[in-house]
Amino acid sequence: MGKKNVKVIVFDAYGTLFDVHSVIQKCEELFPTRGQQISELWRTKQLEYAFIQHIIGRYRPFDEITKNSLRFACEQLGVALAENQEKELLRSYLTLSPYEEVPNALKKLANRYQLAILTNGTLNMIQPLVEYHHLNPYFSELMSVDDVKQYKPSPAAYAYALDRLQCEREDILFLSSNTWDITGASSFGFQTAWVNRKKVVFDRMGQQPDHIIYNLNELIRIV
Ligand code: LAC
Repeated sequence: MGKKNVKVIVFDAYGTLFDVHSVIQKCEELFPTRGQQISELWRTKQLEYAFIQHIIGRYRPFDEITKNSLRFACEQLGVALAENQEKELLRSYLTLSPYEEVPNALKKLANRYQLAILTNGTLNMIQPLVEYHHLNPYFSELMSVDDVKQYKPSPAAYAYALDRLQCEREDILFLSSNTWDITGASSFGFQTAWVNRKKVVFDRMGQQPDHIIYNLNELIRIV
């Protein structure tokens, strides 16, 4: 595999390190039998709102988008969401489960590489989440696109990370499970590894990942 001189490994957060669908349990507790549907529509609309609001020039922070997409999902599915239930579901975003292998893999990688996160989430979402799982010692930077108000996959979002990390774009290996994110990062010029957790096919938008892995343990093999 053609990787060269990786100095920094930059991770996407939601869907890559943390399982957004770990909220299903809480959704299910509050709305029996509807958990999965709510979680899926919530995530789909969360991404769609972020991209569309950015494109139309009306960027809104990801915590607000996460709240509005939850409201939409419940309304669309005919589920009455009380204020305290909404608070509880949004709070569960601050304790999402990491994928099983993530803590150990990060621990091993952090011995050899500088690690960072670049997320569309706001810092007030990502910091408590990383701290809750005691993962903060592994990362030199937690970077939110909210600082530049440009969502990934726009080039400005990756440029922000590059600027913060003070290295060359070829020094960065960018990891994401989200194909739109790998598409953006590859197009920007990062080396990329797609974490194909769901064993699906890659999008047809003209870019390809440099590496395909199925979980972070395999990353240890390629870097
Ligand atoms: C992230 C989400 C949107 O940037 O996947 O963490």
